[in-house]
Amino acid sequence: MLSGSKQSPERESFGSKFGILAAAIGSAVGLGNIWKFPYVTGQNGGGAFLIIYLLFVLLLGVPVMISEFSIGRRGKRNVFGSFKSLAPGTPWYLVGIMGVVAAFVILSFYSAVAGWTLEYVVRSVENSFSAHTAEELGSAFQNFISHPLRPILWQLLFMFFTAYIVAGGVKKGIERYNKFLMPILLLFLIILAIRSATLPDGGAGLEFLFKPDFGKVTGRTILFAMGQAFFSLSLGMGTLITYASYFKKEENLGRTALNVSLADTFIAILAGVVIFPAVFAFNIEPSAGPSLVFITLPEIFSQMPLGNIFGLIFFLLLAVAALTSTVSVLEVVVAYFAEELNISRVKATVVAALAISMLGVLASLSFGPIAHVKLFGKVIFDLLDYLAANILLPLGGLCIVLFIGYYLKRSAVYDEVSSGKLFKAAYFPVFIFIIRFIAPLAIAAILVYSVFFGSLG
Ligand code: PHE
Repeated sequence: MLSGSKQSPERESFGSKFGILAAAIGSAVGLGNIWKFPYVTGQNGGGAFLIIYLLFVLLLGVPVMISEFSIGRRGKRNVFGSFKSLAPGTPWYLVGIMGVVAAFVILSFYSAVAGWTLEYVVRSVENSFSAHTAEELGSAFQNFISHPLRPILWQLLFMFFTAYIVAGGVKKGIERYNKFLMPILLLFLIILAIRSATLPDGGAGLEFLFKPDFGKVTGRTILFAMGQAFFSLSLGMGTLITYASYFKKEENLGRTALNVSLADTFIAILAGVVIFPAVFAFNIEPSAGPSLVFITLPEIFSQMPLGNIFGLIFFLLLAVAALTSTVSVLEVVVAYFAEELNISRVKATVVAALAISMLGVLASLSFGPIAHVKLFGKVIFDLLDYLAANILLPLGGLCIVLFIGYYLKRSAVYDEVSSGKLFKAAYFPVFIFIIRFIAPLAIAAILVYSVFFGSLG
C-alpha cells in the first residue's frame, strides 16, 4: 500500500529544460555565492580554499544533488510526501519533516539579510556612500541593522515578493521569474567583473583568489569548504527534492546536477572576481568577514568613478540572487502544506510566509533590541544560521545519501538516474560507490566537527 499523502492528478511540472536549469541554478545561486563565498574564501587563504571547495562540489555536491533529484522525481511530491511514498510504513518521512523545519529556519535568517540588500539598493540610489569614511560606513551599517523597525520592514517586503512568486505556481510563478531574473543576474555580474578586474592594481586580487597557498590550509578549512558547498548548492533540506518532483521523466538528472553545480561554482568564482580585485585595488583587508559586502564594498564604491551606479548594480544583483533562493526555500514549505493539508497553493503560501516571517522578525531583532537574548552563547540570528548550516543541512544530507545508498533498491536508483534507461549513465557505479561509502563518512565528519568544535560558517 502506498502512503496516505495525496497526489493530485493535476500536479504541475516545469515547462522546459531552460526553466528547470534557471530554477535550480536560481536556488543554488544566492547570498551563499555572492555574500558568503568571497568572505569565507578571504578568511581561509584564497586560492587553496577554492581548490578544496571545487573538489567538494564535484566529489560530493554533484552526487548528493543527483540523489535529491532522484528522490523528488520518483516520489513526485513535497519532501515529506516523497519519502512517504518511496518508503511507506517506515520512519524515513522524518527526514522530510526535518527538511521542512530546515526551510523554516533558513528562510527566517536569510530573509533578514535579503532585506538588507533592499536597503542598500535604496542607499545606492540616494548616493549615500560617497564622501564617507570606512568608519562612517561601518557605523551606518550597524545603526541600520540594529534599528528596531527598518530592517524588519525590508525583510517583510522581501518575504512578500517571495510569496508573490511562489503563489503564482510552478510554471507561472517560479519558472517564469527565474527565467527572467537569472539572465539579468548573469549580465550584472559580468558588468561588475569587467569593471573590477580592470581596476589598476586589481591583479593582486586575482592572484589572491587563484594562487593557492596551501600553507594556510587546516582541518577547519577543509570542513568549512564542505559546509559551504552544501549551503551553496542548496543541498540537504529538500529544496531540490521539491523542485525535482516537478521534473519530467526525460530530464537527465546527472547532466542537470552537473550543470547546476558548475553554474553555481562559476558564479561564486565570478563574485570573487568582482570583489577581490576591488578589495586589493583599494588596499582593504580581504578577510573582513560577513561585513565585507555591506561595509567594505560601499567604501570601494564611494571612491570609484560612477561608484553609485556600480553600487546599485551590485546590490540589485545581491537582491535578485537572494530572491530566487528564497523562492526555492519557501516552495519546500508551501508544497508540504498544500499537498499534506490539502489546501490551495495561495492559502499555503500565505500561511507559510506569515509563520516564517514571525521567526524572521526575531532573527532581525537579534541585531538590536533583543541582542542580549543568547542561547548557547549565540544571538538568535547566529543560532538559526548555525542550526541550519551546521546541523540540519549536513544531517539531512547524511540521511539522503543513506536513503539512496542503502534503502532504495539499486535498480530503482538506476532507473531514475538513467530515466528508465533513456540515458546510459556510465558513471553509475562511481556514483553509488561515493553515495555508499565516501559521502556518509565525509558528511558525518562535518557534523561531528560542527557539533563538538563549534561553528563552521
Ligand atoms: N544556495 C543558497 C545560497 O547559496 C541558499 C540555500 C540553501 C537555498 C539551502 C536553498 C536551500 O544562497
